[in-house]
Amino acid sequence: MPDLLPPTRWALGGARNTGYGERFADLIAQGEDVVGEGRLADALVGRGARILDAGSGMGRIGGYLHACGHRVTAAEPDATLVAQSRRTYPGLTVVPHEILALTPEALTGAGVPTEYDLVVCVGNVLAFLAEGTEVAVLERLGSLLAPGGRILAGFHLRGGPATARSYPPDEFAADVTAAGLRVDHRFGGYDLRPVDDQYAVWVLARG
Ligand SMILES: C[S@@+](CC[C@H](N)C(=O)[O-])C[C@H]1O[C@@H](n2cnc3c(N)ncnc32)[C@H](O)[C@@H]1O
Repeated sequence: MPDLLPPTRWALGGARNTGYGERFADLIAQGEDVVGEGRLADALVGRGARILDAGSGMGRIGGYLHACGHRVTAAEPDATLVAQSRRTYPGLTVVPHEILALTPEALTGAGVPTEYDLVVCVGNVLAFLAEGTEVAVLERLGSLLAPGGRILAGFHLRGGPATARSYPPDEFAADVTAAGLRVDHRFGGYDLRPVDDQYAVWVLARG
């Protein structure tokens, strides 16, 4: 199935995106705080929750949530980032799949849960999807929610990566509805600052 999927904007960005993994490795080496998204995610669930980090990159958020004691599945299709994640966070389970390939069969085959208390999809992942797949991706993520489960998502509205799309809040909200989900909350950051025009943090649930 993954071979039939259209290339993501991340993949199409190619070498223009390669600085991401090194940048976070440097920040971590310098002792910088790179887990703000993880702290909010941790607050949204009970202890020992099942969490899917969808588009987990080099693993900074999945690794943090794993260290918090949650049962984390990280899903990341970029082979270089999968390797970096496994080196940096050896205890974090990474399935090398893209979101649209996260079928119950694939998850069962990987020995990880097929439903989750929280799906984390942060760091502009939703602005890097393959063109035209946004609703299908949101549907797929919604299908992986356990009863009462939620999705934490976030992306830049301005000043985001050059290879990512612009994803206006109204269009995103319409895609959420089309995917059978609903917006429970929107904030301007992972510290729950008020809505602004720079960044959008969303908490979604099944509609
Ligand atoms: C800027 S990185 C952020 C990674 C990580 N979430 C973080 O915050 O550190 C964007 C990520 O989106 C991932 N991505 C884009 N489209 C995806 C898809 N359809 N399925 C899974 N991951 C995807 C890329 O592979 C890349 O790792």
